[in-house]
Amino acid sequence: MSRPSLERFLPDTEATDALGRALAATQPPQAVVYLHGDLGAGKSTLARAWLRALGVGGPIRSPTYTLVERYPIPGGEAVHLDLYRIGGAGELEFLGLDEAGAALWLVEWPERGAGALPAVDLQVELAVRGAGRTLRLLGMSAAGQEWVKRMENQDDLRPLAE
Ligand SMILES: Nc1ncnc2c1ncn2[C@@H]1O[C@H](COP(=O)(O)OP(=O)(O)OP(=O)(O)O)[C@@H](O)[C@H]1O
Ligand SMILES: [Mg+2]
Repeated sequence: MSRPSLERFLPDTEATDALGRALAATQPPQAVVYLHGDLGAGKSTLARAWLRALGVGGPIRSPTYTLVERYPIPGGEAVHLDLYRIGGAGELEFLGLDEAGAALWLVEWPERGAGALPAVDLQVELAVRGAGRTLRLLGMSAAGQEWVKRMENQDDLRPLAE
């Protein structure tokens, strides 16, 4: 069975923000999301818009140096990770993250925490294309696959322009 996937073009930062709002509106009660993409692809921009849409007030900092930032959200806690600077997956233990406790995981550079992260529901792939970004969503679990189908009905996201 092929994984449900969705591709879109995000012409500007506002489109990435709209994606964050759409993902917040459609997310299941518990979700693990891996954010893939090179430096500057828009992962933190997306996470910030998503957390804002979930009602997080105050500053939303990129966890570039702290590795993790945590926020109360409806239904529990969101953890936003950026593993770019992690020494190895073993260091994740020291962050004291409770796998079962978090309602939402947003993980930048998940490949650097391989083996020490909870199983992924939704994979988000961002890539630079011209002045904008391309988006690919992949449903990786049963819940993630249902989620991608819900995202297909979010019409404020533009189709991927070839
Ligand atoms: N769809 C888009 N089109 C054009 N620019 C965008 C788009 N989405 C985000 N950006 C811009 O890209 C820049 C880098 O974004 P961001 O910091 O979110 O990247 P990142 O993937 O988190 O990088 P890093 O791996 O360094 O953490 C920001 O200036 C942001 O405004
Ligand atoms: Mg970032």
